[in-house]
Amino acid sequence: MQVLETPEELRQWQLAQHGAGRRIAVVPTMGALHDGHLQLTDLGRQHADVVLVTIFVNPLQFGPNEDFGRYPRQFPTDCALCEVRGVDAVYHPEPAAMYPAGFQTHVEVEQVAQRWCGASRPGHFRGVATVVLKLLNQTAADVAVFGEKDWQQLQVIRQMCRDLDHPAQVVGAPIVREADGLAMSSRNVYLSVQSRQQCLVISRGLQQLQQQVQASQRSVAELQAQLTAAIDAAGGQTEYVALVQAETLEPLADFSVAGRALVAARFGATRLIDNWALPVREVAT
Ligand code: PAF
Repeated sequence: MQVLETPEELRQWQLAQHGAGRRIAVVPTMGALHDGHLQLTDLGRQHADVVLVTIFVNPLQFGPNEDFGRYPRQFPTDCALCEVRGVDAVYHPEPAAMYPAGFQTHVEVEQVAQRWCGASRPGHFRGVATVVLKLLNQTAADVAVFGEKDWQQLQVIRQMCRDLDHPAQVVGAPIVREADGLAMSSRNVYLSVQSRQQCLVISRGLQQLQQQVQASQRSVAELQAQLTAAIDAAGGQTEYVALVQAETLEPLADFSVAGRALVAARFGATRLIDNWALPVREVAT
């Protein structure tokens, strides 16, 4: 496995791969890799000939009071995990190589980035879209794989690639969960023992909500209120529970189209997100 530190090294590697007719799958990450990330690399391999993992804690996507400084960094461990998993190369640029002095261009995706995490984390998706477009350009990615846990991020990136004509095929990978249902995340290491138990209300509540779309006649507002109350009763602080149209992320009026239930909540100081696919409600005839 090659470890590439500079855009120039990356360019040489990319030219060699494309020169040999190999398609490149890129898995953008911020490191602190877990099994969810490693499954993204497996999916990348199914769609391409070589897999490149990028590891870059992107300062642009963190707000001033967020966890940029303490975001878990474990580069040697990440490299070892990638190597064992059969990843072909890791790209690990310095911040100054990504954002040299004088950097002044950003990518702003509009409607799909405005609500939910976009509203609670101002500037977050601008930072994500900017770094992802740079990474897709630098790597000349044929395929780019992202986890569905960050559902809104995935829709923002799809929209950006469509709007700005990036040719990479954007592949979404199903959420990988711990045995008890918690969605895997690099931030789960922040959870206290108590919060780790309490936060299971999110995945359990989402699963139950999805079942109730069919099994009950409860409205969108009732199901949202029910899950919000359950999270708050379990000791969390709900940021939002939103039942939305799966791609535009506009609020659902009813269950006549396929939707997605999105949740963001804090347990202690840890902010967690999760989501679940919602079926179309069958109407009795
Ligand atoms: O999902 C993440 O880890 C990050 O938002 C990404 C896509 C690597 C951009 O920094």
